[in-house]
Amino acid sequence: MNWREIDENAKKWTREAGERIRESFSTELMIHSKTSPDDLVTNIDKETEKFFIERIREIYPDHQILGEEGFGDELDNLDGTVWIIDPIDGTMNFIHQQRNFAISVAVYEDGVGKIGLIYDVVHDELYHAAAGEGAYLNDTKLPALEEVSVDQSIIALNATWITENKRIDPTIFAPLVKKVRGTRSYGSAALEMAYVATGRIDAYFSMRLSPWDFAAGLILVNELGGKVTNLHGESLNMLEQNSVFVSKPGLHEEISKDFLYKLKK
Ligand code: IPD
Ligand code: CA
Ligand code: CA
Repeated sequence: MNWREIDENAKKWTREAGERIRESFSTELMIHSKTSPDDLVTNIDKETEKFFIERIREIYPDHQILGEEGFGDELDNLDGTVWIIDPIDGTMNFIHQQRNFAISVAVYEDGVGKIGLIYDVVHDELYHAAAGEGAYLNDTKLPALEEVSVDQSIIALNATWITENKRIDPTIFAPLVKKVRGTRSYGSAALEMAYVATGRIDAYFSMRLSPWDFAAGLILVNELGGKVTNLHGESLNMLEQNSVFVSKPGLHEEISKDFLYKLKK
């Protein structure tokens, strides 16, 4: 397998797809809702996914593709080479703000992350990692993540999780929110993982993400010594929805021990 070539193609296609998305800003969006009124998709999400799939199929016909909008394959295993693509992560931001969204592309081999790309289209910032070869923001190598204590950390989580909700007892996160230096919420899981990778935030939580939301970010954060698990500290399942806890080393253990012990399975 020529991983260097796959990496170069993945980056080239991601930047090209980003250029198309930037051009789309001057056109009228077609917006639809999917599973709920807040679960949005646009013609640009769909076109972007198809853009990747056409190119991958042409050059790598034996690779499998898992894409959020469903134009790829239906996967029941991760055998062989698998591309996991979120054409626009943060669609609500894309629609309302024309910023704070990203393209997320990951390539796995037999379930092991090889290449992770998160492209902040508006800022032309490509976060990228090839397993074992370091992680970068454009051409700048990112330093390994350093430990930080809870009281000096900034964590990202959605306010939903500390109010009444279907997925978690709100009293679990409330004491953590009280103790940290600050909280943030950006509305794009991929960007939030890229922000952990760059040290702009120290941890990120979500109660339910799909593989395309976290597949690239996981490779990036792991490459820098950070930790990506579900809320119970277990590895993420790349074929299912998971709760997600992304963090700097040390902080992950401290939060798990002091705040997440009350979680029920
Ligand atoms: C969503 C974003 C959001 C997260 C949601 C995801 P989408 O992805 O990552 O930040 O909270 O759970 O579904 O739908 O914009 O690709
Ligand atoms: Ca997403
Ligand atoms: Ca998406």
